[in-house]
Amino acid sequence: MNRRALLTAAAGFCAAPALAQQSSLPPLKSAAPWPLGTCARVLQFDDPQWVALATTHFSRLTPEWEMKMEYVLLPDGSLRLDRADQIVNFARAHGMAVHGHTLVWYAEDGVYFRKLTGDAFRKAYAAYIHGVVGRYRGTIKTWDVVNEPILDDGSALRDCLWTQQLGEDHVALALTAAHEADPDALLLINDYNLEYTPKKRATLLKLAERVLKAGAPLHGIGTQTHVAGDVPPGAIRSALRDIASLGLKIHVSEVDISRHEQRPVNAVEPRLDQLRVIDELVAAYHEVPAAQRLGTTFWGVRDPDSWLNNGHEKRLIPDEPLLFDRLGRPKPLARELVKALKA
Ligand code: G3I
Repeated sequence: MNRRALLTAAAGFCAAPALAQQSSLPPLKSAAPWPLGTCARVLQFDDPQWVALATTHFSRLTPEWEMKMEYVLLPDGSLRLDRADQIVNFARAHGMAVHGHTLVWYAEDGVYFRKLTGDAFRKAYAAYIHGVVGRYRGTIKTWDVVNEPILDDGSALRDCLWTQQLGEDHVALALTAAHEADPDALLLINDYNLEYTPKKRATLLKLAERVLKAGAPLHGIGTQTHVAGDVPPGAIRSALRDIASLGLKIHVSEVDISRHEQRPVNAVEPRLDQLRVIDELVAAYHEVPAAQRLGTTFWGVRDPDSWLNNGHEKRLIPDEPLLFDRLGRPKPLARELVKALKA
């Protein structure tokens, strides 16, 4: 056999296990002892590869954008829920659940609310939540009612339209309105950097305690877990332990593990950092009492689907934060997840 033929055969041989491995990934949702979710946009329903991956590997969808006030609330106060309906119908057709995201967010307050004050504002605030949650009563079982209420440095609640008009009470008001609209739904407060910033985590947990003490129907905390491979070892475990101490449900709600690391632990092969992070995340979530585990949601299916590679976050060097690569192939991160889930 001449040298070229030998090299070609060797290359084919080397590729074979990798290719064989590509198809060896079991449905991730069957490996997980808790619900495994991903986020979704209506546009993705026309992408057969996304549909195949999402319906094979995940059991719950979180609307990435089209159930948020920015899309739903029209300037005249009417609700545009056409795409939220499409996401709910798609999930139903594929035997998937939907996690409602999100009702109240500092980042999106709608033209309509800026025209109101006082009692009219308060009534409209409750009416918006009744309108959205009520439409999916009995269908959407879990909601991010308030998203990202705490300042990044953890010093206080964010100063936003909701706190300016209603004070901190807006949190309890939103939870109460959602509960009125669907008494069976589990209602959460969702925030990010709870692993990176212990002070922010502490402030969020204090808010949760105040809300509970006031008798508001808070059932869980969403910890978004948008991290990078160099997230300090142990930070995720500490965050989950702290949050679990409240006794509420915990949703690890928006997982991605960015490759844009400042201080890689594995300087030689930084991708190993991602494997370390997913191992810690799954091991730490296994340690959360089963009754408190609402599940883990990845913020996208394939790397190009990630918000980190789209919109204002667009970066020069594409990020690789998710489980499947740009061709829809499972990455080592996906295989590490299976290993960690079964550990
Ligand atoms: O697709 C529409 C396009 O048709 C329209 O012309 C254009 C007009 O602005 O908007 C496009 O939609 C964009 C949408 O993403 C879908 O791509 C919105 O502009 C853009 O604001 C939206 O960004 C989303 C962002 O939240 C703000 O809602 C990201 O996809 C989404 O990943 C991101 O997710 C957030 C979580 O909700 C909360 N935690 C942080 C996380 C990342 O920021």
